[in-house]
Amino acid sequence: MHKSDYTFSKKAVSCYFDADFSNISGLVGDADIVIITDVNVFFHHEEKFSTFPVIKISSGEEFKTQATVDYIIRELISLGANRNAFLIGIGGGVVTDITGYVAAVYMRGIKFGFAPTSILAMVDASIGGKNGIDVGVYKNMVGTIRQPEFIFYDYSFLQTLPVKEWVNGFAEVIKHACIKDALLFSILERYSLHDYQTDKTLVAELIEKNVEIKCGIVTQDEFETGDRKLLNFGHTIGHAIENLHGMPHGHAVSIGIVAACNLSEKINGFHFEEAAKIVKLLAAYHLPVDIETNHEKVFDVLKMDKKRKGEGVQFILLKNIGDAEIKFISLTELESHFKEIL
Ligand code: GLY
Repeated sequence: MHKSDYTFSKKAVSCYFDADFSNISGLVGDADIVIITDVNVFFHHEEKFSTFPVIKISSGEEFKTQATVDYIIRELISLGANRNAFLIGIGGGVVTDITGYVAAVYMRGIKFGFAPTSILAMVDASIGGKNGIDVGVYKNMVGTIRQPEFIFYDYSFLQTLPVKEWVNGFAEVIKHACIKDALLFSILERYSLHDYQTDKTLVAELIEKNVEIKCGIVTQDEFETGDRKLLNFGHTIGHAIENLHGMPHGHAVSIGIVAACNLSEKINGFHFEEAAKIVKLLAAYHLPVDIETNHEKVFDVLKMDKKRKGEGVQFILLKNIGDAEIKFISLTELESHFKEIL
């Protein structure tokens, strides 16, 4: 196990890499651990959690709701959890988002940490402190920004990760490469999903690199006034189609990345050949690159996006692979391109 500390505006978060879950209680002092996980992770790893109280939630984005938050709070009360409770969210992005949110509001705030079990949660969802829930089709409409005490990377959880979840996570990895790291992009071109699934060293390096990219951005701009917005690349259209189509987050982001590349070509001088390389890489990692959809409905959801500002949206466009920028685009201009980019 080795550790990297990342300092956010109010606190340092320790990332423990190549760690073993059996050592996790050593990180919480005399606090009372309560584990929050989902039924799938519990089914595969029950033996790891046997010494702690466990609150299990249903698996899937459709359960990232206030009703699940209420359920967890009732369970915490019936366990007698007080301010000495320490929540550990073990799972994918739904579990980490909801654990962070419950920890922010239960008794006005208790400590928490994460042991992400999916690629997506390891490289993205567990990092950055944003937590919260969806409201109908509107993703992450309610939440706070509050950092965990630690993020614990036990790669043995990946052994039971379904292939579709590997695919899902690579959308965020490719996003990181597109906005910040041309070298990472070329490494991803060299290897395949299968290589990462079968080579523990390769995947460990990839995860650490992505943690470094995301923490590098968020530690500089925790409250998203500037560069953190770059992480929304592919997410403006991605979020709009995700819950409308009930599709996995990574799939929606992949289609959102393609749409953002198309828009970058139209209004940002991004080269067609570069956009084609991105589409090829997404497809090579088995991600979808187009969709049949109702453009009017997608546009209506998009108008409610948190990135909306007055009559426009702060859109993330590429200049080159590894180099992104924030551009204000009016809703009228976006609408005029909409059917050609998506
Ligand atoms: N929880 C994900 C983020 O803060 O970006």
